[in-house]
Amino acid sequence: MAFERVGVVGLGTMGAGIAEVFARAGLRVIGVEADAEMLARGRGLMERSTGRAVDKGKLTGAERDEILGRVTLTTSRADLRDADLVIEAIPEILDYKVSLFEDLDGICKPETVLATNTSSLSVTAIAAATGRPGRVVGLHFFNPAPVMRLVEVVSTVVTEPGVVGAVSELAGRLGKTAVTVGDRAGFVVNRLLLPYLNHAVALMEQGVAGRDDIDLAMKLGVGLPMGPFTLLDLIGLDTSYEVMEVLFDETRERRHAPSPLLRELVTAGLLGRKSGRGFYGEERVHPSEAGRSGAITFDVAGPGSEELVARLAAAGFERSGEGADVVLRLADRPVVEHAVRLRDPATMVGVHLVGDQVAELASTALTSDAAAAAAADLMKVVGLSPVPCKDRAGFVVDALLYPYLNDAVRMHDAGYASIDDIDAAMRLGCGYPAGPFQMLESLGLARVRDGLRALYAEYREPAFAPAPLLDQLVTAGASEFPRR
Ligand code: 3HC
Repeated sequence: MAFERVGVVGLGTMGAGIAEVFARAGLRVIGVEADAEMLARGRGLMERSTGRAVDKGKLTGAERDEILGRVTLTTSRADLRDADLVIEAIPEILDYKVSLFEDLDGICKPETVLATNTSSLSVTAIAAATGRPGRVVGLHFFNPAPVMRLVEVVSTVVTEPGVVGAVSELAGRLGKTAVTVGDRAGFVVNRLLLPYLNHAVALMEQGVAGRDDIDLAMKLGVGLPMGPFTLLDLIGLDTSYEVMEVLFDETRERRHAPSPLLRELVTAGLLGRKSGRGFYGEERVHPSEAGRSGAITFDVAGPGSEELVARLAAAGFERSGEGADVVLRLADRPVVEHAVRLRDPATMVGVHLVGDQVAELASTALTSDAAAAAAADLMKVVGLSPVPCKDRAGFVVDALLYPYLNDAVRMHDAGYASIDDIDAAMRLGCGYPAGPFQMLESLGLARVRDGLRALYAEYREPAFAPAPLLDQLVTAGASEFPRR
């Protein structure tokens, strides 16, 4: 199965990126759009993307011209008749995709492989619309397609032997790593990523923390390339909404219901980067600036106090002990139970250090604004970025990270994908510094299991209960997941 001529139908953000990827790898590309205006937009996207590479000295002008010269643009699907592979990247509406595939089936030669870049729709349903279901696969790229190194190759129960191998080999030619998976809603990456993004929106709606602070915590604290709201804007809120709908339809888990705020923004036409405004608009990201407090006296309590006291002392701030303006209570659990034991509970702020750059600062229902502001100032003094949040189990980072890790364990335990494939998919598809299993092992299985128990006890969300496999490994004293 030789792929030399490739069709790309739909030249939006993803389609234009995919066309560029094929052209860069030396394949001839036929790009199809509905009308001349959309075609011009697609051409503009490819010109800008390759132009940026020239500006950065990654491509010469001549190489760029060669790449763009390999792409033929047309509004006629009939021009795809000789393509060896056609990939579709049109909007995520099953009826549109089904009717496109019926069409392609009639146009293309019988050996052509038809692929869908769907984020979550059933590849099987799309394949069944054609007379060649054995030659229909999912070929799922990640945004921005020229940059992200993963491709999920999705097979169905009727995919012909050989097709998946050939398409995976092609992915290698494109400089991508292929992870092959079966046809389940969200595949590997979106099944793990989107619930986390939806959860971030829920935390913001519950007022646990603000948009910029959540983004900052996940970027600086966990080392993710982008915070969840920046990423939602990149993916597109409409696409994110659609993926959540499909996940919810399959799982019927309440936490998979798209957040009402997502629906509101999508209905208002605020789709993220593609429409110019989503969670973020024109303005820049400003992590919340706690108002400067006046002269501060402070005390520190809880495990790890000495180190923080020493860091503050090195910056010229001495602990004053009893009767301080603010009591910094180091903790990885809510601190209100400690606050109520103080003479003045309004002075207590929970401090949870995440990585070496972020301090989550938990205000209880009793914490005064002055104490919260003083805590933020003290963290800045020692070079930490404060992330103000409510005094809830998991604060921000653990509340978002642990359920994602738990989902990965359940996915593996259900037999859907191997540990190595899941880890590779999240690293290469989303630019995570480590896959979920690598993260679990470096955080410590027991710590994550216990954190999940605390989250479950607080939110009573069934999916937050530790996955049985995780629980059993902790009970058995294991520090790693068995790789079979
Ligand atoms: N098109 C082409 N190239 C782009 C680009 C784009 N839209 N955006 C960035 N780049 C290139 C830059 O030119 C630069 O290239 P260079 O290293 O050769 O100079 C490189 O990417 C890094 O870009 P920047 O320095 O401008 O910015 P960052 O270092 O912040 O990286 C990022 C940007 C690559 C987008 C990074 O933030 C990242 O990896 N974010 C996570 C993205 C992610 O998770 N994607 C998956 C989403 S899920 C999905 O798509 C599935 C769908 O079904 C929903």
